[in-house]
Amino acid sequence: MREKYRIPKGFQDIIPPHTSVWQFIEKRITRIFRQYGYLEMRVPVVEHTEVFVRSIGEATDIVEKEMYTFSDRAGRSLTLRPEGTAPVVRCYVQNGLHTRPSPQKYYYAGPMFRYERPQKGRFRQFHQIGAEAFGTDDPFIDAEMIGMARDCLEAIGLGNLEYEVNSIGCAECRPSYRNALTGFAGSRLDQYCDDCRRRYETNPMRVLDCKVPSCREVSAGAPAMKDYLCDGCRSHFESLLKYLSWMGVGYTVNDRLVRGLDYYTRTTFEITTTELGAQNAVAAGGRYDRLVEEFGGPAVPAVGFAMGMERLVELVKNRGVSGDERPDLFVICLGTEARRHGIRIVSHLRKNGFWCETNYSDSSLRSQMKRADRLGARFVFILGSDEVESGRVQYRRLSDGREGTVRMDDFRGMSGLLAGEGEET
Ligand code: HAM
Repeated sequence: MREKYRIPKGFQDIIPPHTSVWQFIEKRITRIFRQYGYLEMRVPVVEHTEVFVRSIGEATDIVEKEMYTFSDRAGRSLTLRPEGTAPVVRCYVQNGLHTRPSPQKYYYAGPMFRYERPQKGRFRQFHQIGAEAFGTDDPFIDAEMIGMARDCLEAIGLGNLEYEVNSIGCAECRPSYRNALTGFAGSRLDQYCDDCRRRYETNPMRVLDCKVPSCREVSAGAPAMKDYLCDGCRSHFESLLKYLSWMGVGYTVNDRLVRGLDYYTRTTFEITTTELGAQNAVAAGGRYDRLVEEFGGPAVPAVGFAMGMERLVELVKNRGVSGDERPDLFVICLGTEARRHGIRIVSHLRKNGFWCETNYSDSSLRSQMKRADRLGARFVFILGSDEVESGRVQYRRLSDGREGTVRMDDFRGMSGLLAGEGEET
C-alpha cells in the first residue's frame, strides 16, 4: 500500500481476534462500575480548545505540545479530547447535573488523542475507560474509587499491581509548599535537565515527576508536600489511608506523585505494573475540587480516575487471553431444497444464542467441510437431498468426529447438542 494511504503514526486498527479482548475488558469493567452505581455518560470527542486549556493547565505537556487543535470552518478553535475529565465536567455543568441528588457518579469510555512520541504502550489515539464522582469531598469516596479500580483490574485477571497515593494539598497549603520547592530546585538548577529548568519556571511541581534518573536523584532530597499539608488536607489524607487499609488495598505513599494535569487537589493516585516497561501506569486519577467552579458551576467537589485500555489489553494478553472465538456450528446446505431447511435451522439456532455459519455459494461437500474446519466450527450439520427426504440432519463434532442424526425440526435437540447437554464431563 502507498505510504499516503497508511494509518497515521501512533494510531492503530483494532481487528479480530483482538477486538474480543477489548470487549471482554469493557464488559467486565462496566459491570463493576454499575455495581458501584456509576452510569454511563457519552460526551463528544471534540470540545472548544478552552475547555482543555482552562482545566488541564496552560503550562502542562498536554496543552503545550500534545493537543490536536484545529480551526473549524467558522474559525473556532476546537481540540480532539486528550482526556475525559474536562469534557465530563463541562457536560455536568452545562446540563445542570448538580441539581440531581449528590453524589452523581458517571463512567465513560472512548478514544483520546495526544500528540506524544509513540512507543510501546503509548499511542496518539488511545482509549480510556474512566469514572468521575461529583458532589462529595468525603475521603471515603476517594478510597472507594481506588477500591473500585482494584476490583475492575481484578475482574480482568490483573492482580499484583502497585497502588501509589499522595496528597498534593489545596489552594490554602500548596503555595507554601511551592515556595519551599522552588527554593530547593532553584539552588540546584544546574543539576536538572532542560525540561525541568523550563518546568521550574512554569510549573515547578512537575520537576518532581521527571523521569530522567539524574533529576530523580536531585529531587530525592526535595521537601515533601506531606510536611506542608494544612489540617484539613492532612486529616483528609489520613482518612483516605485508613479507608484504603480497611478495604484491603495494599498501597504505598509516593510523595513525588504530582501528576501531569493541573486540576488536581488533595488526593492523587496511580496504579502501575512492572510488566509494561517505561509506560507503566495502567490507571490514574485524583480529586479535583475546584474544576466545576472553574467551568462556571457551583462549588462541587469531585474525584475520578481513568484506565488506559491499550495497556490493559496488553496485560490481559500476556496472561494468555487471545480473544480467539469460533463458530458453534457450520450448516452445509447442498441444493435448493436443503437451503430452504437450512435457513430455518440457522435462524432458530441463532435466536437461541449460537454462532452459526452456513455456505453462501454452492460448492462441494468437501470444500465446505474444509471451510468449516478452517473456521474452527465445533459442529457441522450436513443437509443434502437424502437428509431432506428422511427429515433428519446429519451432524458431526469436529473435535472427535462423533456423528449422528437429529430430526430436522427438533431445534431444542439441536440446541442441546451444541450446548453439550447430556455429555459426560
Ligand atoms: P492520565 O494519567 O493522563 O489521566 O491518563 C490516564 C491513563 O490513560 C494512564 O494511566 C494511561 O494508562 C492511559 N494513557 C494516557 N496517555 C496514554 C497514551 N498516550 N497512550 C496510551 N495510554 C495512555 C487522565 O487522563 C485523567 N483524566 C484521569 C482522571 C480522571 N483524573 C480524574 N479523573
